Amino acid sequence: MRTQVAIIGSGPSGLLLGQLLTNAGIDNVILERVSKDYVLGRVRAGVLEEGTVGLMDEAGAGKRMHAEGLPHDGFDLAFDGGHHRINLFELTGGKRVMVYGQTELTRDLMGKREQTGGVSIYEAANVRPHDFDGAQPYVTYEKDGTEHRIDCDFIAGCDGFHGVSRKSVQRDAITEFQREYPFGWLGVLADIPPVSHELIYANHPRGFALCSMRSPTRSRYYVQCPLTEKVENWSDDRFWDELRQRLPDDVAERLVTGPSFEKSLAPLRSFVAEPLRFGRLFLVGDAGHIVPPTGAKGLNLAASDVRYLFDALREYYLEKSGAGIDAYSAKALARVWKAERFSTWMTSTLHRFDEQGAFGQRIQEAELNYLVSSQAASTSLAENYVGLPY
Ligand code: APR
Ligand code: PHB
Repeated sequence: MRTQVAIIGSGPSGLLLGQLLTNAGIDNVILERVSKDYVLGRVRAGVLEEGTVGLMDEAGAGKRMHAEGLPHDGFDLAFDGGHHRINLFELTGGKRVMVYGQTELTRDLMGKREQTGGVSIYEAANVRPHDFDGAQPYVTYEKDGTEHRIDCDFIAGCDGFHGVSRKSVQRDAITEFQREYPFGWLGVLADIPPVSHELIYANHPRGFALCSMRSPTRSRYYVQCPLTEKVENWSDDRFWDELRQRLPDDVAERLVTGPSFEKSLAPLRSFVAEPLRFGRLFLVGDAGHIVPPTGAKGLNLAASDVRYLFDALREYYLEKSGAGIDAYSAKALARVWKAERFSTWMTSTLHRFDEQGAFGQRIQEAELNYLVSSQAASTSLAENYVGLPY
């Protein structure tokens, strides 16, 4: 088989890139290790910047997102028993975010791909990129016990943090920057009305908590906990008790609880690979970088990578210029590092770090008080939260 762009991974990065290419008449094939249902079973974040919303529209997959997604003009920061609204809309001169689960976004993109005849090969085992340093790269994979080969012009590594693309690069050609955190987020999904119509990020002596949602009848809640915790040891009652303790009294009193249908513990990590291009192989989204979820930037960074790479590939095919391709890595990394900075800052401001002691705690309190009392500080938070320009 031959295609123009072989895409490894059918997450948001691969699907979004694939759809934009298909719409532009650029042939592409998506290779995915697991099944479609498995991809759709993953629970991930759900706050979209306007740039991400715009890309979904450009892909032609934005209809349900606009009908069912929840536009948010602000969120609350809770600490020291109170809560303070960050008015995103006013602070940014009219920008907002859209709350729409990544699972739904993925479902919409898969539907659009099917509708437009895009080729996706699910349950493709042993996917391997080859010869991307030369002019004739190709990808091999196994399906139903047979090995297949796809010749292509470019390979887009959209296969997430644990994917094969980044690992296929020669070790001395890549530099990796990493920070791991000594805690994770224990998250639950439950069909109960959200405690507030906007998100609440809470700093509390017992640890961070986040009240989020998927719809007016589906809530997503998280509490910071040590990585050594076992999900099995967290009954729903224990989770609700812990969450209630970390919220201001008036919020805790309003909290509606009920049986959860998903509960998982996710580690927090910051990671960046440099560069994001190796000859004819590109790293896109989580394959090239990870942010801790505190700023809700993971999916949005995947979208900005796709924006840069799609523009570069379109320029290559339609205008016969390689300038965009040459600029991809530097452009994407400049935005990635700003989001890494913001996510690191938001994580360190809102979580409990035992090792930082009483001094660190006081600095954190001062940071939060400054944040909600200074227009300049609130504006900086808001500007980053809604998403920096592409
Ligand atoms: N071969 C083929 N596919 C693979 C391989 C492989 N060797 N390894 C991983 N994959 C697939 C995964 O099964 C997954 O479906 O690549 C896909 C990668 O998708 P994501 O992990 O969702 O990454 P990405 O598309 O970049 O989306 C970034 O996802 O992890 C969140 O916070 C992140 O919201 C952000 C978004
Ligand atoms: C979520 O709804 O899952 C979510 C929202 C905001 C975040 C992280 C996760 O910062």
